[in-house]
Amino acid sequence: MHPVVVTEGITKDYGSVLALDALTVQIDAGVTGLVGANGAGKSTLIKTLLGLIPATSGRARVLGHDIATAGPAIRAVVGYLPEHDCLPPDVSASDFAVHMAMMSGLRRVAARERAADVLRHVGLAEERYRPMGATPPA
Ligand SMILES: Nc1ncnc2c1ncn2[C@@H]1O[C@H](COP(=O)(O)OP(=O)(O)O)[C@@H](O)[C@H]1O
Ligand SMILES: [Mg+2]
Repeated sequence: MHPVVVTEGITKDYGSVLALDALTVQIDAGVTGLVGANGAGKSTLIKTLLGLIPATSGRARVLGHDIATAGPAIRAVVGYLPEHDCLPPDVSASDFAVHMAMMSGLRRVAARERAADVLRHVGLAEERYRPMGATPPA
């Protein structure tokens, strides 16, 4: 079993700001919080670990995958749950679920089937074409 995260001297220099300064850390399974003041470098660390931005130097692995070469493999096995709802109000649940399924790699036809199944499963079959921000029918 790989640790969730292992970094060795991970550094991110934006030029004007040194956001990560040779961070070496290992995070094992379980709940871990990443806490710091605004500008501390939390988002930079997450983006670097997901392979979305390159580190200036240092190395890291997420679930055994090298961040420098395996960003897509890392992002395929990492989920994200926002603290607050951030659903587009003018988009239907159906279109949104199809979009997210396609973002996860399903082809359009499979994504439509999966979205319909999932929305039925959570009791939204009837309302799946209503814009998410619209008032539900009484
Ligand atoms: N794209 C960028 N270009 C230049 N500086 C950046 C960029 N992104 C973040 N920074 C700077 O890097 C530091 C860390 O930012 P960030 O990782 O967003 O911190 P946090 O998420 O902990 O608030 C801050 O000083 C921020 O201004
Ligand atoms: Mg942040």
